[in-house]
Amino acid sequence: MTTREVGIGRAHAKSILFGEHAVVYGAPAIAIPIPQLSVMVQARHSEPHGDVQVTDVVQATAGSGWGRVDQTDPGLHMLLGAFCLATAAEARGVHLRVDCTIPAGCGLGSSAACARAVVLALSDLFDRPIDTRLAFDLVQTAERVAHGSPSGVDTVATGSPVPIWFQSGTAKELTIDVDATLVVADSGVSCATKVAVRQLRERFDADPASKTRFLEDSSRLTTAAVEDLTRGRVGNVGQLMTDNHDLLRQFGLSAAEVDRLVCAALTTGAAGAKLSGGGLGGCVIALVEETDRVEAVVSALHAAGAVATWRVRTAGYSS
Ligand code: MEV
Repeated sequence: MTTREVGIGRAHAKSILFGEHAVVYGAPAIAIPIPQLSVMVQARHSEPHGDVQVTDVVQATAGSGWGRVDQTDPGLHMLLGAFCLATAAEARGVHLRVDCTIPAGCGLGSSAACARAVVLALSDLFDRPIDTRLAFDLVQTAERVAHGSPSGVDTVATGSPVPIWFQSGTAKELTIDVDATLVVADSGVSCATKVAVRQLRERFDADPASKTRFLEDSSRLTTAAVEDLTRGRVGNVGQLMTDNHDLLRQFGLSAAEVDRLVCAALTTGAAGAKLSGGGLGGCVIALVEETDRVEAVVSALHAAGAVATWRVRTAGYSS
């Protein structure tokens, strides 16, 4: 039985501070929410009978570079099927309106955020409350189609109002006390996470010892960062971020455009900078302690090729 005319679902972007890629193999990662980049989905019933289907998707946000839910997206169809199976929702056509300001293909979690917003909109529309675990499993259904072997960090982080520590499918809230600004800069080079994950896997297959080194180094940096984040040691956190970037670069996951942005941020006074997410393009994050340096770092990033920047305060999260 359907009780609502419209269901609403929301999610937001995320940024990985430490541990991307290693997290796919069971190592830890730390991610923070980026609430100012978000997606809202409105779901309405469409055809009264027939198979579960997306009858229409209206992309409300102008521009082609934003995260989108494509009507023909196999992940979306898998998600709808899985939702109806899990909740015994009556099969119907669904009209989705997607309003997303998260750029796609740049490591900010647009695919997971869109899938999460769809799941929550369906839950609202069909009046089927779903718990955290089921929401995770449903979003992962779509993410598996988009990414192949998603760790789940994006799935959780795009719904968490606070920073998280994530490892092997389990997330913990992380209290961070860092009074600084995280500048997020889009290199303008987009790359599907799937491609970067596959490239690293091929490298590991060819040289299994390199996998051990990568996972050990990434885990060491991520673990060390927890105490510095908790105690507000911005300089240490920044250095660990730059070290994490160097590790990812050594494993072929950066790009010339990304390295240019990291260099520009560091030479203008950022405490640290790194690629964030899948890499091979995408976004760079730079941690800036002094408020009066933020403008200079933002300008340097644009001069070095950034096509967009966002500023995220790293203090004041609450769940
Ligand atoms: C993508 O945001 C993060 C990766 O580690 C992939 C994943 O965790 O599924 C590259």
